[in-house]
Amino acid sequence: MIEPFRLEGDRLLLLDQTLLPEREEWIDIPDAPAMEKAINRLAVRGAPAIGIAAALTLAVQAAREMDTRMGMARLGMYAQRLISTRPTAVNLAWAVRRVVEAAWKAQKENSEIAADRWAAVIRAEALAIWEEDRAASRAMAANGAALFPKGERFLTHCNTGGLATGGGGTALAVLFELHRRREDGITVWATETRPLLQGARLTAWELQKGGVPFWLIADSAATHTILRRRIRGVLVGADRIARNGDTANKIGTLGLALAAREAGIPFVVVAPTSTIDPSTPEGDGIEVEDRPAEEVTGVRGMPIAPPGIRAENPAFDVTPADWITAIVTERGVHQGAPYDLGRPVDTKPGP
Ligand code: MRU
Repeated sequence: MIEPFRLEGDRLLLLDQTLLPEREEWIDIPDAPAMEKAINRLAVRGAPAIGIAAALTLAVQAAREMDTRMGMARLGMYAQRLISTRPTAVNLAWAVRRVVEAAWKAQKENSEIAADRWAAVIRAEALAIWEEDRAASRAMAANGAALFPKGERFLTHCNTGGLATGGGGTALAVLFELHRRREDGITVWATETRPLLQGARLTAWELQKGGVPFWLIADSAATHTILRRRIRGVLVGADRIARNGDTANKIGTLGLALAAREAGIPFVVVAPTSTIDPSTPEGDGIEVEDRPAEEVTGVRGMPIAPPGIRAENPAFDVTPADWITAIVTERGVHQGAPYDLGRPVDTKPGP
């Protein structure tokens, strides 16, 4: 299984995703400021993955503290800065807050707690988040695959595999599972995902490594493909899901949902429950991250537009819940709007 980070003792390493697929290079992340930079430039990306990466960084950072009171203050500061790196992906804030709460609780229960014991609590919480995400990936794969007893042709967007999570992935994990279950396998159409090409660089890399037949298509070919290639389902991940099911995901997702609706095929969102944000009632309340214009005016640092022009670069869009056929989590499948994801138990349990 592909994992985007490694923890070797107190040493945290990231697979630098900006260099893929050409180079598989692991970089050292010595402290929280280094992780901030890595998340900002998408060396690690994908909503669940950045949450886990930030949690592990806080664990590494805490292990250096000699005094828990000072450590707690510093942890709070780093936590805030990490959370603000990517405002749409709610898994980031969720994981960071979980670690900070565990640290607070340990100190509250024992105000004299030794720094090494306090740091051990933080590390255990970060590792638990990672382990839960691994298990969530497995459960989502099974729950999502059960939705498609038939069909061999599927389309996906962006990268939602092992690189984007702490386990096997979300939507891509379902596609791998479908490939495993079908006697003749499946074929995937993967969008290139401009501007940063997560589909061309990362999904294509994962599908090739996993031996799943696929076609890479330009984003602008996606609607045509859905309508003309007998696609049986569109599967995507999510960066934040509002309580009513409105879903923020990589820019371009909205158009795919519309095309799937027109074609009369399922449009399925696959995400762990850590991506659901019950405190946001509807999609309008989801902040959409704006990224640098240079990502649009250039490709991997090479200019492709006249110098000095303006370019907008929203990293995500929000698909209305009405256009989503099902939301698959590790707990089961929510099928069809209206969704009420504030409820802790899923409406329809998975297999
Ligand atoms: O900007 P990115 O590459 O972090 O965006 C990633 C996505 O939009 C994914 O679809 C989403 O995080 C779900 S991944 C399990």
